[in-house]
Amino acid sequence: MALIEGFRVQNFRVLKDVSLGRLRTQQDEEALTPLTVVIGRNGAGKTTLFDSFGFLADCLAFGVETACDMNQRGGFERLRSLGCSGPIIFEIYYRESSSERPISYEVAIGLDRSGRPFVQQEVLRQRRRNQRHGQPFPFLRLENGKGTVWAGEEAVQAEEGEEDNSSMPVELTDPRQLGITTLGTLREHPRIKLFRDFLKGWYLSYFTPDAARSLPNAGPQKHLNIHGDNIGNVVQFLEREHKDRFKVVLDRIASKIPGISNIDTLPTQDKRLLLRFNDGAFKDPFYAQQMSDGTLKVFAYLLLLEDPDPSPFICIEEPENGLYHKLLEALAQEFRAHATGRKNAPQIFVTTHQPYFVDALTPKEVWILERGKDGFSTIRRAADDPVVSNMVEQGLPLGGLWYSDYLDARS
Ligand SMILES: Nc1ncnc2c1ncn2[C@@H]1O[C@H](COP(=O)(O)OP(=O)(O)OP(=O)(O)O)[C@@H](O)[C@H]1O
Ligand SMILES: [Mg+2]
Repeated sequence: MALIEGFRVQNFRVLKDVSLGRLRTQQDEEALTPLTVVIGRNGAGKTTLFDSFGFLADCLAFGVETACDMNQRGGFERLRSLGCSGPIIFEIYYRESSSERPISYEVAIGLDRSGRPFVQQEVLRQRRRNQRHGQPFPFLRLENGKGTVWAGEEAVQAEEGEEDNSSMPVELTDPRQLGITTLGTLREHPRIKLFRDFLKGWYLSYFTPDAARSLPNAGPQKHLNIHGDNIGNVVQFLEREHKDRFKVVLDRIASKIPGISNIDTLPTQDKRLLLRFNDGAFKDPFYAQQMSDGTLKVFAYLLLLEDPDPSPFICIEEPENGLYHKLLEALAQEFRAHATGRKNAPQIFVTTHQPYFVDALTPKEVWILERGKDGFSTIRRAADDPVVSNMVEQGLPLGGLWYSDYLDARS
């Protein structure tokens, strides 16, 4: 499974310089866990961190200028940390699989002379084969849309005195598109393609129960979309193609929400799809339009987790909203089980305000965002505090420690 081992954000709103996990320049840090959870007070930067992933995904799909303006971001000047004049910078340190050498991707987005956002710098690096330690070498290096790319599966920038016969110059026509967007479509750059596909596959959940109540056109669909308005289509797909998985979802939802004995779909005469819930207590079914917000949400998460071919990286903001508190520990366990269980398991990134959710987590999985005196946020791992780690080892639940101010109220 692909895993983001580390992530760094600079000059992005309240995140002036925040690093999580292992990076190219921070090799001694521990890599991120398959389930990573960020907690923090209001205004600490959780949504901003979530949106930094969304922003990167939008940069890839729509170019950096559009990405700055869309999703209520308000343009580059609003996105850049106040008082800063440098570019917005992201670094991702990731592995396609545990046997692959890690790849680091760094991108800097600045303003050009006309005041429009553009890609100032972009670098992809990897160690040479057989090089287990030390600094990786670039296999894509672009500055202001111009630079060098090293083709194939192996080649990286040569060391001084070495022959370099696999590099070629590149010049992009559009300075507002990421180099990986263009080069990732070319067969001669398989590593760039893999990375682009990885980023393209990220799933950022914007689920709303009302979206799940819409009536989509009938027809099976493989993946739940980010708003969840094709939930009925996904049910249709699982009912037809993956009965076993769907049975698992039904059993799980029955164990979490009393009274739900079956869920299926019913096409209407005009070929739209009704999502039907059978409650053991009544003869007549309920439809999604009448179902409770929390039921629809739990159902959507379970479908997302049982996706036979899941997204490699799933981000969910405050999954607890609208859910019964006693469900939350089980939900966190469910997330972890799915993030570690199978070969193509997704990495799951969650922000939360809920101690019950955090009760199910280990100190390595939890990161605390805090606003500093200068107005910008810092982040640290709960495991870095020996007092917290000790208390958890002695059996105290992490959420309880948070509730009792052991995690974030001492500064
Ligand atoms: N350009 C910027 N530079 C510096 N700080 C900024 C910038 N834009 C927004 N902020 C600050 O960042 C904060 C936003 O944080 P964010 O919305 O990520 O917090 P949160 O942890 O999600 O909070 P909540 O729990 O309330 O949802 C704002 O309150 C604002 O003070
Ligand atoms: Mg928020």
